[in-house]
Amino acid sequence: MKHPAILVLFCLPVCSAYPLNGGVREKDPSTDLVQQYLENYYDLAKDVKQFVRRRDSGPVVKKIREMQKFLGLEVTGKLDPDTLAMIRKPRCGVPDVGQFTTFPGLPKWRKTHLTYRIVNYTLDLPREAVDSAFEKALKAWEEVTPLTFSKIYEGEADIMIFFAVREHGDFIPFDGAGNVLAHAYPPGPGLDGDVHFDDDELWREDKSGTNLLLVAAHEFGHSLGLYHSADPTALMYPVYNPRTDLTRFRLAQDDVNGIQSLYGPPPTSSPDGPAGPTESVPPEPGTPATCDPALSFDAVSSLRGEILFFKDRYFWRRSRWNLEPEFHLISTFWPSLPSGLDAAYEVNNKDTVFVFKGK
Ligand SMILES: *[C@@H]1O[C@H](CO)[C@@H](O)[C@H](O)[C@H]1NC(C)=O
Ligand SMILES: [Zn+2]
Ligand SMILES: [Zn+2]
Repeated sequence: MKHPAILVLFCLPVCSAYPLNGGVREKDPSTDLVQQYLENYYDLAKDVKQFVRRRDSGPVVKKIREMQKFLGLEVTGKLDPDTLAMIRKPRCGVPDVGQFTTFPGLPKWRKTHLTYRIVNYTLDLPREAVDSAFEKALKAWEEVTPLTFSKIYEGEADIMIFFAVREHGDFIPFDGAGNVLAHAYPPGPGLDGDVHFDDDELWREDKSGTNLLLVAAHEFGHSLGLYHSADPTALMYPVYNPRTDLTRFRLAQDDVNGIQSLYGPPPTSSPDGPAGPTESVPPEPGTPATCDPALSFDAVSSLRGEILFFKDRYFWRRSRWNLEPEFHLISTFWPSLPSGLDAAYEVNNKDTVFVFKGK
């Protein structure tokens, strides 16, 4: 069997930081955790047995330093509180060693149109919620590459997606609630490209359980050939961040750079733009800063009493009821709208907003 570059999301139980009742003499619980973490993600040799007694031993300190550097912590070589706290956070199970942006050997899809199929569903969410989470997650990658995705309902898709518990046919069984949340395979035929979700998790649209959109978007990054990033703002950062603002869900510039290193930017959509090979493609704009004094807008329109300010692939929505404008990706409301609009206006009596782009 071809050895899969298996990707696993770990959700380390938060309660492990909670002291056990006084009667129980536990050995330092962090020791096993740290050793396992370094073995799993930093390639610490399993035979470094002296860990428990000698956590100042050379190889261990070296690994701790490596980990601190990758995760953007202060590099002390010691298990300080920040480091221990980081180790306890839920994360993806792909090691943080080797090539960080792509898989070794650069596996990628050799075509730009990919199919996906949702083989079965979790009972935790309505089907539409699952469909929509996967659509949104794929859309995020679609927007910044020439890749397009379409859903198929039977047969073998490039990206087969299913929910399963325990053993599910790929020799990497899931483990019940908590810990491993999902895993995904890098681009290729058969099992490769596929994404499996552990159905013993409580999948949710919000943060009351495990957020399906966040996990799916990260795993699809692996399905497309991305590896982990050391940039803490990136979706491909190995540590799952449940504090991500879902209303502003988007790829970070680092994710965009990573995926474009494999597939390039999306083909230029403006029909009048020069598309010669020497044309330098403008960098994908980062997130506009709301308070930037130099901020300008592409277009502004009213809509049912609110004001919409468009900029690149984003818009602000200012309502009478809310002092703080809401900030969204245009595509989350209107998937077919392009970014970088030129003008927009509302026709009140038709309850319609016209938007313009190009000629
Ligand atoms: C979904 O399909 C997979 C693969 O065939 C199977 O292992 C799993 O049990 C199925 N899950 C559900 C919820 O039916
Ligand atoms: Zn991952
Ligand atoms: Zn699996």
